[in-house]
Amino acid sequence: MQLTQEETQMLSGDQGRAVQKAMQILVALGNIYGAERMIPVMSVQIAGVSYDNLGEAGLQFLSEMADGGGAARVPTTLNPAGMDLENWQALGIPPEFAAKQLQVIEAFASMKVATTCTCTPYLIGNLPGRGDHLAWSESSAVCYANSVLGACTNREGGPSALAASLTGRTPEYGLHLEKNRQPAITVQVNSPLHENSDFGALGKAIGEKIQSARLVPYIRGVPSATLENLKSFCASLATFGGAAIFHMEGITPEAGMFRPGQAEISIAQQELDLARASLNDAQPENVDFISLGCPHLTIDEIARIAQILEGRQVNKEFWITTARPIKRLADQLGYTRIIELAGAKFATDTCCVVAPIRGRFKSMATDSAKACYYASAKNKFNTVFLPFDEVVELALK
Ligand code: F3S
Repeated sequence: MQLTQEETQMLSGDQGRAVQKAMQILVALGNIYGAERMIPVMSVQIAGVSYDNLGEAGLQFLSEMADGGGAARVPTTLNPAGMDLENWQALGIPPEFAAKQLQVIEAFASMKVATTCTCTPYLIGNLPGRGDHLAWSESSAVCYANSVLGACTNREGGPSALAASLTGRTPEYGLHLEKNRQPAITVQVNSPLHENSDFGALGKAIGEKIQSARLVPYIRGVPSATLENLKSFCASLATFGGAAIFHMEGITPEAGMFRPGQAEISIAQQELDLARASLNDAQPENVDFISLGCPHLTIDEIARIAQILEGRQVNKEFWITTARPIKRLADQLGYTRIIELAGAKFATDTCCVVAPIRGRFKSMATDSAKACYYASAKNKFNTVFLPFDEVVELALK
């Protein structure tokens, strides 16, 4: 790779041990993927924050980078942690886990990383513009940034995202290059979509068809989609198809730049029904855990929960997962009070997938296809997959 003088200094250790290690990681990545140079990044989002995923080895790596003098050079936020950082006791998180999780957060804080833990950084001010180069790692956020915002990011691992933060650089390959953003397959959708769960089912149906070839899909036949629909779709498409970018005709910013892919597939109602059915392996009456907020909820979604719950009582453990700044807004707007009076809990900074709750519940209800996948694969829960309002109503039964 061609490195600038400053990048060469970083690699030689002139700017400290952590920066040297970071540049070593980036150069190794660049060499693997044939990058010719480094490019500056506007922002970074780091996954691998939950101690449940990181373990002792991950914590040690972060501590070494912090001790080595690492400091974020560009705005950097974190993916969800393994617990609500302020209210972990209410979620039944063990104190030993909490102590380790707080050490992880302290290590990031000492590297000047904003310890806002969310998979929707684009809702809390980390909002890139079209053509901006980023180093983000959460798969749903990467898909959202590339596709909905028209920014450019590969799906980084935790260490490479941290390395990008400490150097302000990333190797130029993959989705930083226009040629790799071109659609290769056209997907015609022949079914109406209304709910987030419809978009989640669509992401699963398309994802499973394109997964093996990792083709960039160009999607037709979706007349409109809200921000919430698209965040749900991104999470599902990334989970089931490994996709980091798609184009949606008339909706996403780069769709008009490219010709639709030559190969074509279609998605009919029956395939969406099959996708939905495959995410339901529990009976609603057996559900003992409800979770909404995968990806993290918008303030409008929280408002809707408050509207349904007002003056009523939930009968199940019900987690509402969102970013801390969105929770603060919910506090100010009075939604938190209504929701907590109804007996539901905010699980801020975290989510039902990265919290250490494996085996704690039998069956979970959600409107998120991604959450269903990980609830089953990671936490060994059965799942009920329903539209948003029906999930909230189930909590009341
Ligand atoms: Fe976010 Fe957790 Fe879902 S990180 S996308 S809420 S699995």
